[in-house]
Amino acid sequence: MSIPKKGKVAMLTDIRKIEVLEFDIPAIGDDEILLKVEGCGVCGTDAHEYKGDPFALRPVVLGHEGTGEVVAIGKNITHDFVNKPVKVGDKLITCIIPCGECHACKTTPARTNLCEKVGIYGLIPEDKYHFNGYFGEYVIIRKGSTFFNVSDLDLDSRLLVEPFAVAMHALERAKTTGLLRFDSKVLIQGCGPIGLCVLSVVRAMGIEEIIVVDGSASRLELAKELGATHLINISDYKTAEEEIEAVKAVSDGLGAQFAFQCTGVPKAAALMWRLVRRGGGLCEVGFFVDNGECTINPHLDLCNKEITAVGSWVYTPEEYPATFAFMKLAKSIKLPIHKLITHRFPLDQMNEAMETNIRMDGIKVCFVAN
Ligand SMILES: NC(=O)c1ccc[n+]([C@@H]2O[C@H](COP(=O)([O-])OP(=O)(O)OC[C@H]3O[C@@H](n4cnc5c(N)ncnc54)[C@H](O)[C@@H]3O)[C@@H](O)[C@H]2O)c1
Ligand SMILES: [Zn+2]
Ligand SMILES: [Zn+2]
Repeated sequence: MSIPKKGKVAMLTDIRKIEVLEFDIPAIGDDEILLKVEGCGVCGTDAHEYKGDPFALRPVVLGHEGTGEVVAIGKNITHDFVNKPVKVGDKLITCIIPCGECHACKTTPARTNLCEKVGIYGLIPEDKYHFNGYFGEYVIIRKGSTFFNVSDLDLDSRLLVEPFAVAMHALERAKTTGLLRFDSKVLIQGCGPIGLCVLSVVRAMGIEEIIVVDGSASRLELAKELGATHLINISDYKTAEEEIEAVKAVSDGLGAQFAFQCTGVPKAAALMWRLVRRGGGLCEVGFFVDNGECTINPHLDLCNKEITAVGSWVYTPEEYPATFAFMKLAKSIKLPIHKLITHRFPLDQMNEAMETNIRMDGIKVCFVAN
């Protein structure tokens, strides 16, 4: 493939306004890669940016769940993050760009997800590169990035890697509590893309009994296909107490042994503590953005129950290879994770893609290049 001179991006220029703009493609440096984008999932974070701008990034080319093909590669780049050779024509996925300077980067290299100034393609404001996010025809991978050669994964799997890496990290955090066992009764609150990804990795790890909670019948149905054994539709219950009783009814009368909070709704986050039994644990995944505060009772919900709680924040590059292995495992055990992708839009329809995500019409809405 010859190196193109110009490329288009779908840039968020104002609230609820994405424009397709064309830029000259700058010369690719010795430590850079030019990627031709094949597609990218729309994330709840993108929708937040589209509706407002919580991170003050605008103007910005969004899209951080993308994948593409190497069109040009700087002479200093020969291998990916796990030492796999990389050449023109390979399919890549990027992870985070650690700053390399902050306390987390300098002292805990295995926890670069906690980097104070972490970069993620698709969340980098407009600058001289222009091609900073996957909602475009090209992305320029700059020096210091973490990226992987994933030519052995099909396109749908590659489009789903990023949300599954979020789930993989949540699982790793949950495992540190020692409370996830084959016979644990695990609860997942919220069956959006993140909750369904968490459900899938928990199921693939061998957990047999999984309780899912959501208000959407269609999302609960998909959860069932992905291995959930008990479906709780919150719209069937008038009060929090009734919902708690419904969960207890399918968990030995006690509540879940471990719960993952994946709603991003403060009220739900507070309730989750009451859905877990004494001696149980929970993982808070659901707040990548600040949706406000919630109240728990430290005596009843935490101290007296001796709960072990962990937070989960994105993922580390080290967790990506495990996520690739999961994508292959899901295929071999016929876990229908590809059903998470419900919509595909071309670049000039990214406003509609965002609105579809906001309406919660499907599960994973994707930009797919023509
Ligand atoms: N920790 C991280 O690194 C990380 C990464 C990405 C996303 N997130 C967060 O994960 C959250 C979920 O993301 P998503 O894309 O799946 O969002 P989503 O909005 O599509 O899904 C949330 C789901 O929760 C359900 N829900 C709402 N209130 C509920 C309640 N009271 N009880 C049970 N279910 C309820 C909704 O019906 C919906 O299906 C977001 O808020 C996002 O900020 C966190
Ligand atoms: Zn995301
Ligand atoms: Zn850092």
